[in-house]
Amino acid sequence: MDVTYTNNIENLTADQLEGFFDDWPTCPDEEAHIRILAGSCKVWLAMDGRQCVGRINAISDGVFYAYIPLLEVLPAYQGKGIGRELVERMLKSLSSMYAIDLQCDESLEGYYRQLGFMSNIGMAIRNRENQGADGQITSNST
Ligand SMILES: CC(C)(COP(=O)(O)OP(=O)(O)OC[C@H]1O[C@@H](n2cnc3c(N)ncnc32)[C@H](O)[C@@H]1OP(=O)(O)O)[C@@H](O)C(=O)NCCC(=O)NCCS
Repeated sequence: MDVTYTNNIENLTADQLEGFFDDWPTCPDEEAHIRILAGSCKVWLAMDGRQCVGRINAISDGVFYAYIPLLEVLPAYQGKGIGRELVERMLKSLSSMYAIDLQCDESLEGYYRQLGFMSNIGMAIRNRENQGADGQITSNST
């Protein structure tokens, strides 16, 4: 298995993104997945040939604060250091930011701690009806 890394999503197509959002009850389809990545300020992908097998994205104000919403490595590729590589590449890409935040399950606290994160109380709203990622906000939205 020869995994390579890229931050170029220009020619990414839906068929290259199959298998993500594993175990999610409802999730964005591959087309919405591409829109999510296109709307992110930074993206890193792990590729096995044409197929994307891991991805991380960040959203940001571009100056001060960044948030990492999605990190995932496909099940067959987990435990091989791909997640670590994606996080390290993203942290390097975001190294000019003051704050880099994410939220995770308690079981992953140790995982992120060994990658340099500290724990921090987070609060969240989840609009479950939007979990399929059908909507969007625009600069004209109220
Ligand atoms: C979490 C996830 C991204 C990790 O990716 P991965 O490629 O499997 O992880 P890596 O192989 O890079 O693991 C890196 C290190 O973390 C360790 N690790 C893995 N899971 C861990 C955990 N839950 N707690 C502590 N350490 C952990 C590994 O042992 C490895 O240590 P090493 O480098 O000393 O051998 C992957 O398991 C995944 O996609 N899970 C499902 C989606 C998910 O939970 N995403 C996170 C949302 S916040």
